[in-house]
Amino acid sequence: MNDTFLRACRGEAVEYTPVWIMRQAGRYLPEYREVRRGVDFLALCKTPELAAEVTLQPVDILGVDAAILFSDILIPVEAMGMKLRFLENKGPVLSRPVRKQRDLDRLVVIDPKKDVPFVLETIRILRRKLRRKIPLIGFSGAPFTLATYMIEGGSSKNFLNTKTVMFSAPGIFHSLMERITETTINYLAAQIKAGAQAIQIFDSWAGALAPDDYRLFSLPYVKRTISALKPLGVPVIYFVNNCGGLLEMVGTSGADVIGIDWRVDLGKAITRLGKGVSIQGNLDPCALFSDRDTLKSKVADILKKGTRARGHIFNLGHGILPQTSPEMAKTLVNLVHDRSRR
Ligand code: CP3
Repeated sequence: MNDTFLRACRGEAVEYTPVWIMRQAGRYLPEYREVRRGVDFLALCKTPELAAEVTLQPVDILGVDAAILFSDILIPVEAMGMKLRFLENKGPVLSRPVRKQRDLDRLVVIDPKKDVPFVLETIRILRRKLRRKIPLIGFSGAPFTLATYMIEGGSSKNFLNTKTVMFSAPGIFHSLMERITETTINYLAAQIKAGAQAIQIFDSWAGALAPDDYRLFSLPYVKRTISALKPLGVPVIYFVNNCGGLLEMVGTSGADVIGIDWRVDLGKAITRLGKGVSIQGNLDPCALFSDRDTLKSKVADILKKGTRARGHIFNLGHGILPQTSPEMAKTLVNLVHDRSRR
């Protein structure tokens, strides 16, 4: 197996810098759009053969060094007892947002084998199909990021409802976080037992918190999640979007790898985090809309900075945009491999 990605996670020697792309399976690929023509997004997530098929598309097309399970961070939230829909051009909608004690009472801690068997089956299919190729990454949302969707009822600009509950009813907020954290631990442990060889935890919205609030309302639950997974022995990547104001605290999460968004200079991020963790990132997704030479120099710059880290996994600083040309994504993967070969 090409285990370059796993070795970089652990800070071991590699022949070149491994690369994968957040949201590498998705709408920028015509092959994905073709599958999606026949099935809605949630049904795709819940049909193991199809979810496995779209997971493998970027593996074959781009030549990345890791596959990531095709699913969504809101799948376990639905299993906790909330009604989930994805509306065209609006994103996820969760009915009856959680704001009061009685809303909390409707939510359960999930048993993954019973409540999301399709995710575990997708992983088992993928491990069979990926044998001797590349590792499979499982994932979840971080408890805080999941809480924002549950409290807002969907995506949000300023997280007003979330912060109102956080500040005016912290007891309710913490009870919700406890329940989400237990669900997340069960969910990720089940993914690892089904065959996921690394885990990424997406804290997409923690960057909206003031540092003291991150310390109190997000970080403890991430730490607890990661420490519960430690005995299972697979590397954990913790990605905080907009991490610039929080990086030193993010570094104490216990994760093996810290994912960095593009707003932070990678060299400075490495200095701030030290040698105890590997680094993942951090090309601006919009750099894929430049010309080849511009892309080449941006990639070279990130690779050079990355050599100072304990280990470096190349990635975008957030998900690839639906408008991206697959050719440019392929060019990126080739550039990373060619330019980093030791
Ligand atoms: O990376 C991968 O290829 C694996 C698949 C994956 C998806 N979502 C597929 C998806 C992963 C890892 C996610 C994580 C996810 N989902 C996050 C965290 C990552 C991040 O971007 O910060 C978040 C916040 C979500 C919630 C979510 N799912 C939103 C807000 C949306 C709508 C926004 C949009 O881009 O349209 C989704 C839908 C979604 N998840 C799509 C895909 C491929 C598009 C659905 C479609 O095919 O129409």
